[in-house]
Parts: sequence; C-alpha cells; structure tokens
Amino acid sequence: MSADGELAVASAVADIDPQAHWTRMDDYIEEQLIPADAVLQATLDYTTAQGYPDHLHVAANQGMLLAMLIRISGSKRVLELGTFAGYSTLWMARYLPEDGYILTIEGREPHFALAQANFTRSQLPVSIDLRLGKVADVISDLPPETAPFDFIFIDADKQQYAHYLELCLQRARPGTLMLFDNVIRAGEVANPDNQRIMMQGLRQFFERLHQHPRIELSTALQTVGCKGHDGFALLRVKD
Ligand code: DHB
Ligand code: MG
Repeated sequence: MSADGELAVASAVADIDPQAHWTRMDDYIEEQLIPADAVLQATLDYTTAQGYPDHLHVAANQGMLLAMLIRISGSKRVLELGTFAGYSTLWMARYLPEDGYILTIEGREPHFALAQANFTRSQLPVSIDLRLGKVADVISDLPPETAPFDFIFIDADKQQYAHYLELCLQRARPGTLMLFDNVIRAGEVANPDNQRIMMQGLRQFFERLHQHPRIELSTALQTVGCKGHDGFALLRVKD
C-alpha cells in the first residue's frame, strides 16, 4: 500500500474514534521508546490505588520531554507549580544531576499528601522540596538569596497562568526555560464563544507572552494523545 493509502486508513480510524486512536498511538510510543522505570510506575500505581484519575498527570512521553529539556539545557535548579501526584516531578528528578534541586508547589492538601508519599518511596538522590501553599505566597516567601531557577514547569490552575508567568520571571535568569502545560484545551482557548474563566485566563497568558519584553522566544505546540487534544507553551527568557 502507498503511504497515502496508509494515511487514508489511519484517518478513517481517527474519524471513527479519534481518542481511541490517539491513545493507541501513545501506547505504541511508550512501548517503543520509554524505558520501564520502577519508581515512576510505582508512583502511577499508588496514585490510581488512591482513587485518582490518570488524566491529571503528564503522559509518559511528555515526562520524557521534560527530562530531555532539562538535559539539553543542563538545568540543575527546577521550579514546578502544581505538583499533583509528583509524577512529573519524579520524571525531572530522575534525569537531573545528583546535586539537582526541585522546588515543587502544591495548593491542595490531599495532593500534597499524595505527592509526599510518592517522593518518600522514590528515594532518588535529587533534593525534592515539596511545599504546600499558594504559588504566590511560597514564591514571595523564598529568601532573597535564593538562586534563580534554570527550568520552570507550570502545571497549576490554568486561569492564573498570566500571573504565574510574571511570578516565574521574578525567579528566572537569562536563558531560563519555561514550559506551561495545558494551554490548548481541545482548541477551546481560541473559541470566542467559550468564556469559562480558565479559557479567559489562558487567553490573557497568550496576550502577555506576545512581545513580552523579557521573553526572547516563545511558541506553543498542540498535542494529541491519551490526554486528548491539548498542548504546551515553551519559552526562553532573554539574555
Ligand atoms: C487536566 C490535565 C492536565 O494536564 C492538568 O494539568 C489538569 C487537568 C485534565 O485533563 O482535566
Ligand atoms: Mg497538566
């Protein structure tokens, strides 16, 4: 069969049930490319056993992307907003150097306790500093001598992303990379009929990014996969 024919078959499958098709494809990528990892698997298993859904944390191939960005940029100090179960935290911790450090902030007590259990079990050498509280409070309470962060992963309440961008810029250095999860939301971000607070917040975030004086480069990529149609924004702070 020609490549065109294969693509036609694939899109016919996608027309029937795109979500099943995307999930199958993520399963394939994971099987082919993502190494088995007992720490990460135990984290997922415990999170499921505690009754949490599996769509709130990053997918395995997205976790690997975070790890790659950390390795490519030579990052040592990581800030994460929105810990949830700590799965993304452990992906990053797994690939940071042993003297690496992650400050991860969670606003909800049950998620904080869940993450704490997952971190305690993991026993990775990297220092994971889990804090319970509002992002703005934890960040403003950091001592003035706190060194800037090299990589920042933002995965907390989406309506606040414009505000988080400014808070994170206060803790960034020239060249810091930031990745904001869930900025596409099945394309609803660009649907003017959708006036939900989350979408309004994401639109403010995109507007703030546009020609921001402290940002050298920024983009956003749409993704499809086991987590549906969503995507992330990536930016580099100016030198
Ligand atoms: C959802 C997905 C996320 O990655 C997240 O951070 C929050 C919510 C969701 O699918 O609802
Ligand atoms: Mg997310």
